[in-house]
Amino acid sequence: MAQEFDVLVVGGGPAGYVAAIRAAQLGLKSACCESAPYADPKGEPRLGGTCLNVGCVPSKALLHSSELFDSANHSFIMHGIKAEGVAIDVPTMIRRKDNIVTQLVTGIKGLFKKYKVSFLPGHGSFVADVNGAWKMKVGEEEVIAKHVIIATGSKARHLPGIPVDNKLIVDNEGALQIDAVPKRLGVIGAGVIGLEMGSVWKRLGSEVTVLEAVPDFLAAADAAVAKEAWKVFTNKQGLNIHLGVQIKSVSTSADGVLVKYENDAGEQELACDKLVVAVGRVPNTDGLNAAAVGLQIDERGRIVVDEHCSANLRNVWGVGDVVRGPMLAHKGMEEGVMVAEIIAGQKGHVNYDAIPWVIYTHPEIAWVGKTEQELKAAGIPYKDGKVPFLANGRALGQGDTTGFVKVIAHAETDQILGAHIIGTNASELIAEAVVAMEFGASAEDIARSCHAHPTLSELMHEAALAVDKRSLHF
Ligand code: FAD
Ligand code: NAI
Repeated sequence: MAQEFDVLVVGGGPAGYVAAIRAAQLGLKSACCESAPYADPKGEPRLGGTCLNVGCVPSKALLHSSELFDSANHSFIMHGIKAEGVAIDVPTMIRRKDNIVTQLVTGIKGLFKKYKVSFLPGHGSFVADVNGAWKMKVGEEEVIAKHVIIATGSKARHLPGIPVDNKLIVDNEGALQIDAVPKRLGVIGAGVIGLEMGSVWKRLGSEVTVLEAVPDFLAAADAAVAKEAWKVFTNKQGLNIHLGVQIKSVSTSADGVLVKYENDAGEQELACDKLVVAVGRVPNTDGLNAAAVGLQIDERGRIVVDEHCSANLRNVWGVGDVVRGPMLAHKGMEEGVMVAEIIAGQKGHVNYDAIPWVIYTHPEIAWVGKTEQELKAAGIPYKDGKVPFLANGRALGQGDTTGFVKVIAHAETDQILGAHIIGTNASELIAEAVVAMEFGASAEDIARSCHAHPTLSELMHEAALAVDKRSLHF
């Protein structure tokens, strides 16, 4: 007989596993199916999705390892620490990253046990609406669920004529498994993955060249941040970034990869030993049997949902990368919680205006809310305060003084409209601005809050004071 659940979550990435756990916490009979091609130590499909297996977590592990290597080579010396003969053992670095992934992936199974979520290994798909409940197929089994949450995520976008073999030409999955430092690394796409992975291999010794189609660098970021980032990445760190590029052809030979492209300067060639293709991700609805049940999917392949993640079919929901909005793990998790709470009869909500973005380069880049250029375009009156890391004692102590914190507030109400940071620990500092925005706080609210000394968080305090032109240390 088919197993019956209140909620079946299809996909065990961050959006899906969190939805399943929250539903179970609220007393619903909850299950999550997962069909990842990679197996966990028990031989079952790994939970955790892109984020844990081939995304956020492994990339940050490599970023940290490569940053330590870079510090040993370039920054220790200013502290009087002489590190000679520093060498990188790439297989050990990769193994450490893999172990972290395994630990976290296994941990989700533990959480499922703790909260009584049924884990169903296998590919989930719709069969039919039967008497007001959804008959689903998971692997070869049939399952009945009152509610179905689709959390099937996204996959790397590939370009026609560029055959990704995950050996010479790699996407994000292959880029996390490179087993030796390539002498010359090519990257197509100066987006988040391009910059993060480009940074990893540049620090480890590769000559890195990034080819970007758009003529503006980091167009989604605040223009002042993008300008500073460009200066740091190109002039200081030596990443070769070419903007406004049109890729003409990519070919491979025993010598590596040859990319022919065109830009303002005419026809160009890039010869490299490995090529990372990082040109965005596409929603994944493969094999869901969505059309048969009439599930609406838009022209970009996303499941169409309303602001509460409800799809066009009764009791069918979509969360995470497979629906509109930024493809970020924390956005998906928030949606998973919201949907579980709504199903349980509560009032779930996601504030899409307060979702932080982080790029884990060094310096890190983080922002929340509106950029200055967006506010100008919308004609919203604003004032801003900007302070450099150089004015902060803790940053000086750490020898990490590149960048700034900028807070933007409404010119009349003083309500915080955005915060933009480039600098060390930006990923942690941004949380204060997120909380402030979530609760509709003003720059004055942050300015009036006591910040521990000496901390980097004082930069947020100073930037908030600077909004009113009364910063104390700058
Ligand atoms: P996914 O994580 O893609 O999970 C979907 C899951 O569903 C997969 O496990 C898949 O196997 C499963 N599935 C699909 N179809 C079915 C089916 N029919 N039946 C059963 N199972 C199915 N985001 C951040 O916020 N911070 C970061 O630092 C960050 N770094 C990243 C680095 C890289 C290299 C990449 C590629 C992405 C990164 N992201 C980051 C993005 C983040 O990984 C995604 O936004 C997040 O994983 C989306 O979560 P999700 O649950 O919607 O989908
Ligand atoms: P992206 O959208 O950030 O960047 C892709 C870049 O490729 C863009 O700048 C685009 O203009 C460029 N591009 C597209 N087609 C091109 C072409 N034909 N030639 C040259 N350039 C081209 O996507 P990316 O970096 O692949 O990452 C995918 C998503 O994963 C991100 O959008 C983000 O949502 C998520 N992610 C988040 C991270 C984080 O939060 N730190 C880290 C990595 C990924």
